[in-house]
Amino acid sequence: MAAGLLSVFVWLLPLLLSTVFFYSRRGPFLDPLCSYLSWNCANQPLVISGLTTTPTDPVLYGPVLQQYLHKFAVNEDLGGSLAVFVDGEPVIDVFAGFKDLRHTIIYDNRTLNQVYSSGKVLEGILIARLVDKGLLDYEEKISTYWPEFAQNGKENVRLKDLMMHQAGVQYLDDDKGDLSWALLRDRTRWSAHLARQKHHFFSGSEPSDKQQLPQRAYHAVTRGWYLDEIVRRVDPQGRDLDQLARDELMAAYPDVELYYGALPNAADWDDRLTPMHDYPVLRLLGRLFIPHALQTHAYLGTPGLAPLHKISSRLFQTKSQTFKSLALPMARRARDFRTKDAHHVPSTSFSLKTNAHSLARLMSMMANQGASYNSSEPNLISQATYERATHHTVELEDHVTLDKHPISHGGWIRTRNFFPDLEGVLVQGWGGAGGSLTVWLEELKMGFCYVTNAMGVVDFTLGDGRAKKLLVLAVQARKQQLGL
Ligand SMILES: *[C@@H]1O[C@H](CO)[C@@H](O)[C@H](O)[C@H]1NC(C)=O
Ligand SMILES: *[C@@H]1O[C@H](CO)[C@@H](O)[C@H](O)[C@H]1NC(C)=O
Repeated sequence: MAAGLLSVFVWLLPLLLSTVFFYSRRGPFLDPLCSYLSWNCANQPLVISGLTTTPTDPVLYGPVLQQYLHKFAVNEDLGGSLAVFVDGEPVIDVFAGFKDLRHTIIYDNRTLNQVYSSGKVLEGILIARLVDKGLLDYEEKISTYWPEFAQNGKENVRLKDLMMHQAGVQYLDDDKGDLSWALLRDRTRWSAHLARQKHHFFSGSEPSDKQQLPQRAYHAVTRGWYLDEIVRRVDPQGRDLDQLARDELMAAYPDVELYYGALPNAADWDDRLTPMHDYPVLRLLGRLFIPHALQTHAYLGTPGLAPLHKISSRLFQTKSQTFKSLALPMARRARDFRTKDAHHVPSTSFSLKTNAHSLARLMSMMANQGASYNSSEPNLISQATYERATHHTVELEDHVTLDKHPISHGGWIRTRNFFPDLEGVLVQGWGGAGGSLTVWLEELKMGFCYVTNAMGVVDFTLGDGRAKKLLVLAVQARKQQLGL
């Protein structure tokens, strides 16, 4: 018996070794048969469309584009878009790759992509616009706009606490056991469910005298739900954030597409929206458990590979704040946030479907302190509101992400330490699960957005290694342009 097993093993050994070899050489986002066995490989050339060179200076931003295309060549990216705006004009504005792992469906300029928490950047802009109109105030208590919110310890929570993830409603207690996507469709019950939540800072292991200290815990999923309730109460027409994005932003900037809820046509879900592709589980386990020195080994691994963020293992601890805030009873896994059911009602903290062009265009106006570059188009927000929203930040340890980012009242990161290679450049914005990154750089008058359908590993919590490398190269090009 043992000898039989041994001979099977000896026969299988070459297959096993070649599988491991191909697998380790060929990047994560590829058809599994091709990846393991070198079989079923489509060998389609990469398709890229849009603005690939800058009319004024074709060479300057070339390295950014080369780096972007390199990630497709090594199957670390699959399909997506990248847009960089400088002084209000695009210098890179491309769509590239495929919607499927087999490389048969081209990712083109009609493709929409879910960007998860990158949608929070837009959430912040829409709120700032209401502040601009005097309908909201960051310092005001939420209960001023929504009296029922003043329950269970939440009486004094202000709008800015919610924007900065300090409102204490980072997860929802499912007290009646009916938390589901269907509940979201029942406005009255859903609103009551949100209103009666406890202020979750920080029973359990925290000493009680700490309970009143300001605490931060990423409201990964819930922030948008709470904001939407507030917004519907202050907008004179009772619109939600999704409707405001369409009525105001899509109308003012005709090339911009922003959908938190349903897409314009029923067929768009299948025709235009790209499926998302998860990082393969086997590789993820490898990244978690193989010693990092081996993973970055010059011959056996990939030099320069960033270690996984410590949030990665917390995601498996069901009692942690991280798990409670990122997983819902009806959505335990990332893929559960991209079903039609999950998008029926707009959930602005994760449901935005857009492209890099649209977000980078808005980011370029943020880099201009909210002002439009085109005199026939309105400003995004006034300079006064821009100052108020961005010039106050609070740095606190986040109990969900385990990061310590400075976050502004407007709800965006504002830091000069975003990424070591950025050397002190001021970065503002946010990123999303899977790797999307949406930021503006005021001093460089630059808007940047990277969007992908290839869900990367969590090596950073705002953007991943792919996006950050592109940002670094874009900043280097811009500095060179400015002679800095
Ligand atoms: C999309 O690409 C097509 C063909 O490549 C082009 O004709 C069209 O103008 C592009 N649309 C946008 C919005 O860039
Ligand atoms: C300015 O905005 C208007 C209205 O959206 C548009 O028609 C026009 O092409 C824009 N001009 C430039 C130079 O982008």
